[in-house]
Amino acid sequence: MLELKNIGKTFSGVNVLRGIDLVLKKGEVHALLGENGAGKSTLIKILNGYYQPDKGGEIKIEGRVIQFKKPKDALDASIHTIYQELTLCPLMTVAENLVIDKQGNFQGVFLKNREYKDIASKALEQLDQTDINPGHLVKELSIAQQQVVEIAKAIISDARVILMDEPTSSISQKDADKLMTIIKKLRDSGVTIIYISHRLHEIDGIADRITVLRDGDLVGTVNNDDVDEQDLINMMVGRELTNVYPKRDVEIGEPVLRVEGLTSENTFKDISFDVRKGEIFGIGGLVGSKRTEILEALFGMRPITGGKIYLRGKEFNPKSPLNAIKNRIAFITEDRKKSGLVLCLSVMENINLINAQEKSTFGYLNWKHMLDIAKKQQKTLDIKLNRLEQIVNTLSGGNQQKVALAKWLEFDPDIILFDEPTRGIDIGAKTEIYSIAGELAARGAAIIMVSSEMPELISIADRILVIREGEMKGIIGKEEASQELIMSLAALKDSNILTK
Ligand SMILES: Nc1ncnc2c1ncn2[C@@H]1O[C@H](COP(=O)(O)OP(=O)(O)OP(=O)(O)O)[C@@H](O)[C@H]1O
Ligand SMILES: [Mg+2]
Repeated sequence: MLELKNIGKTFSGVNVLRGIDLVLKKGEVHALLGENGAGKSTLIKILNGYYQPDKGGEIKIEGRVIQFKKPKDALDASIHTIYQELTLCPLMTVAENLVIDKQGNFQGVFLKNREYKDIASKALEQLDQTDINPGHLVKELSIAQQQVVEIAKAIISDARVILMDEPTSSISQKDADKLMTIIKKLRDSGVTIIYISHRLHEIDGIADRITVLRDGDLVGTVNNDDVDEQDLINMMVGRELTNVYPKRDVEIGEPVLRVEGLTSENTFKDISFDVRKGEIFGIGGLVGSKRTEILEALFGMRPITGGKIYLRGKEFNPKSPLNAIKNRIAFITEDRKKSGLVLCLSVMENINLINAQEKSTFGYLNWKHMLDIAKKQQKTLDIKLNRLEQIVNTLSGGNQQKVALAKWLEFDPDIILFDEPTRGIDIGAKTEIYSIAGELAARGAAIIMVSSEMPELISIADRILVIREGEMKGIIGKEEASQELIMSLAALKDSNILTK
């Protein structure tokens, strides 16, 4: 279907992809694996006309050499992309979004409302997604449903190749399972799919073949049946990585933060727990169970309508994020693009965001000092970049996440709110982040960590609070924690255990 030969890409003198050869067969799911910054998204963007490859590279579709000068050229060649950040128009209906690229292609130029609703319904039916109403506004849909609409859009355009860049990183397990069913259906109908994900179990379930990149080089292409997870990890990191969850032996001290009957009207209610010095306190639950909202309330971003918070024994009423920061609370948010980073600033500036004021003299920023701090954090977290002055938006997803974390490390907080800290992060970097969380806890910080990755919660957290639909369903100690127990509390009605 598609053949890449000697594809390379250089950004301002830095070579981020080199000599990539790749063959994509018709009707296969081809997974693209690699650590953060390996070049996966860049390769996708070359295939969809967003970037042009360096001279000497060649792309063939069904044996014909083609050159994409702009994204539209790739669309015209039936190559569609589903990005992690969705690109629908939120204030238009599902049906309008589905035909937006097509307006001019239908007879009569202007489509009638009814006609495009029909087209939309048909595409959604094809995907067995009849619970999505073509007349609804896109902003009313969940992220997972929006993703389905994006796929329906590709179907309407008779996509022959669909490129998916980390499509499951912000949807629930159930929705991810649904997506897998859809992908299999597409594959069986002859569509070629490139699938990027850091979730290896997902790849194992769906991929026919797997190509691994490392630091811009092609490591190899293998049949899924011939390899196991450990083989893939070794290919990705180029070394043996056996202990993903570092061992931690920390003495847990006094409660630092205590929450009693915390309520935010219409969101969550009657949440009670305490977090101790040196502890990693996990919060589990399904995506959408209001875990983030609890963190937001603690950080002064959400009204508290009932209950109390005690910080180091004293009643604490967080009025604003600034107020929370002054009380040495840090919040690493789940959506780094929206609330974790200033995308148009450099890595160096982002790392210094929290501290800039403290490090300034008479209101002037001390550039040299800021650069030193950034250098130090870049080393600690092993952030892959060309220059510290690079705009943060041009880093790979996982490295952006590290910058969002780095800005808090210099601040040395007492309480750290971590929301999905390893989203979009490769397995090596995950281990690093767990070690850093462990080190921060060992230094006496109290960590609250929301995570949808069950193995992560079970291995890292000392205790786990489970939330379902804004209510607490139990607190599980490390010894008794299991995926089954967490899942049953998180998802099954009427399950509840005594808290401890
Ligand atoms: N526009 C750009 N300007 C400069 N450098 C860039 C640009 N786009 C990407 N890069 C660099 O190219 C390298 C590869 O990035 P890419 O986004 O392809 O990685 P990735 O494999 O998708 O990683 P992740 O898993 O973290 O998403 C990174 O080092 C990144 O900083
Ligand atoms: Mg990427």
